[in-house]
Amino acid sequence: TQKIIIAIDGPAASGKSTTARKVAGKLGYTYIDTGAMYRSVALKVIENGLLDTLKQAPEQVAGILEGISIAFDGDRVLLEGRDVSREIRDNRVSREVSFISSLKPVRDSLLVMQQALGRGRGVVMDGRDIGTVVFPEAELKIFLVADARQRAMRRLLELQAKSPDGTGLPDLETLEREIMERDRADAERELAPLRKHPDAVKIDTSRLSIDEQVEMVYGMAVEKE
Ligand code: C5P
Repeated sequence: TQKIIIAIDGPAASGKSTTARKVAGKLGYTYIDTGAMYRSVALKVIENGLLDTLKQAPEQVAGILEGISIAFDGDRVLLEGRDVSREIRDNRVSREVSFISSLKPVRDSLLVMQQALGRGRGVVMDGRDIGTVVFPEAELKIFLVADARQRAMRRLLELQAKSPDGTGLPDLETLEREIMERDRADAERELAPLRKHPDAVKIDTSRLSIDEQVEMVYGMAVEKE
């Protein structure tokens, strides 16, 4: 058997990261969450108070990218060596990340990092443009979709698990609206828009359990190895 590259793309909260992480675990592969990389850049912009500046003068994002360090340590995401795994999931980051990821210097920088991370093969990478732009040569390409309402429910359950007292949780309609808004922005942008590669296998996860999704993708991977 040979180690392959598995590209998993799809809209927000379609189950990509859960599926990708588990498939990688079963295969003994590395899992790379490229959304976490875009979120880390967005977090750095927000923390530096540069959001409004960039909306007027997007080219100034170059200063943020210079010397930026984004690394993975198991399940943790490290930005300049600091564990930001929690902060990058905050709603304020989710709301701004599509704008940040539409900027060419951001995409160019992250593309180089992502291709370097996949060079050794034996990787499962998830995102929006992995099969179309980052690794069009990936042996297995998956496009995961699910009903928007289903995706909002899953996201709400995740948020509830993280905030047991329930304070500050958005309601289901708000979440669904935000998810659809992010998908629209990601699909309509000029650079590397969210698209299914013609060779990608489309899987609708609306009525699948996580184990079923994992088994499907794992089975296809083993055939390609
Ligand atoms: O996967 P996740 O929802 O964490 O991704 C956050 C955002 O990062 C997406 O909404 C999209 O704007 C951006 N992204 C991207 N290309 C990728 C992965 C994520 O533009 N490959």
